[in-house]
Amino acid sequence: MCILCTSLVPLTMEHNFMLSLLLLLLITLPLSAESKCSKSCDSALASYYLWNNHSSLLYISYIMQSKFLYKVEDIVRYNEGIYSYSYPSQTRINVPIPCDCINDGEFLGHTFQYSVPLGDNYSAIASGSFSNLVTTEWLQNTNNYPKGAILAGGTVNVTVNCSCGDSNVSKDYGLFITYPLRTEDSLQSIATQTKLDPELLMKYNPGVNFSKGSGLVYIPGRDENGNYPPLHQSSGGLSILTQKKVVLLIIVCN
Ligand SMILES: *[C@@H]1O[C@H](CO)[C@@H](O)[C@H](O)[C@H]1NC(C)=O
Ligand SMILES: *[C@@H]1O[C@H](CO)[C@@H](O)[C@H](O)[C@H]1NC(C)=O
Ligand SMILES: *[C@@H]1O[C@H](CO)[C@@H](O)[C@H](O)[C@H]1NC(C)=O
Ligand SMILES: *[C@@H]1O[C@H](CO)[C@@H](O)[C@H](O)[C@H]1NC(C)=O
Ligand SMILES: *[C@@H]1O[C@H](CO)[C@@H](O)[C@H](O)[C@H]1NC(C)=O
Ligand SMILES: *[C@@H]1O[C@H](CO)[C@@H](O)[C@H](O)[C@H]1NC(C)=O
Repeated sequence: MCILCTSLVPLTMEHNFMLSLLLLLLITLPLSAESKCSKSCDSALASYYLWNNHSSLLYISYIMQSKFLYKVEDIVRYNEGIYSYSYPSQTRINVPIPCDCINDGEFLGHTFQYSVPLGDNYSAIASGSFSNLVTTEWLQNTNNYPKGAILAGGTVNVTVNCSCGDSNVSKDYGLFITYPLRTEDSLQSIATQTKLDPELLMKYNPGVNFSKGSGLVYIPGRDENGNYPPLHQSSGGLSILTQKKVVLLIIVCN
């Protein structure tokens, strides 16, 4: 007679029950499937250039809503000198965004579901609503609407790329800004503004011409307290999977 027990309870009761332990096996089973993505750091920042004071913080907190962004104050916390009811313009603000593994770990990004107003098209979404955090071509690649035929009232996947850092470059930086280059930017200007070493910025963006006026670069960002958070142990290097383990006690009784 064999009894498969999942707890030790039967061992502590019924002494008169003649119980002989023939075999006690501890089996640990990983219950969670191993993810292909080993580098997500959960959060990042997106540098949003406000063209004019119509693209308000309220609008951004609406189109870039996420687990990190419910209200204007969630943006304000990451931007010194910006206040909840201010209408900044012609300036960049950092917007907190999730940073997920996309397509089974193919790349890091976060997809916002954008509700299309009447008359919108990919180029207006890319360079207007999302302030060049995405490109027209990238929107075409990540959505299955035919070119120029976006239905008003429909939704468009707006996938903003992000970075979690690189343990080969530095373990001191674990929060990154997705930064669309503008014509006024250069390696030196960004280094001066961020007080970071130009060589470090180059290492995070190998081969990129910071003066090219468009395209994305990734630069270390500061958290709500104004500090650079260090690289997460689980990102940019080996992943630590949290596995739920089940311990099975197999007791064979006679
Ligand atoms: C936006 O800017 C215009 C022109 O600079 C100004 O007249 C207007 O008051 C501003 N609106 C807000 C809400 O600050
Ligand atoms: C996209 O929309 C913008 C603004 O509504 C318009 O100026 C532009 O011509 C449109 N582009 C295309 C390719 O339809
Ligand atoms: C985002 O990353 C993907 C994968 O690396 C790349 O193909 C795409 O061009 C990037 N999008 C933008 C807007 O840079
Ligand atoms: C948006 O992405 C989802 C999930 O990948 C996909 O099912 C959907 O078809 C996409 N939407 C468009 C308009 O391509
Ligand atoms: C970088 O891009 C700018 C603008 O397109 C160009 O003038 C410059 O020559 C480029 N620099 C290098 C090193 O390619
Ligand atoms: C770091 O460099 C090693 C050797 O060049 C490479 O195998 C590894 O993938 C790199 N790690 C990251 C996170 O890029």
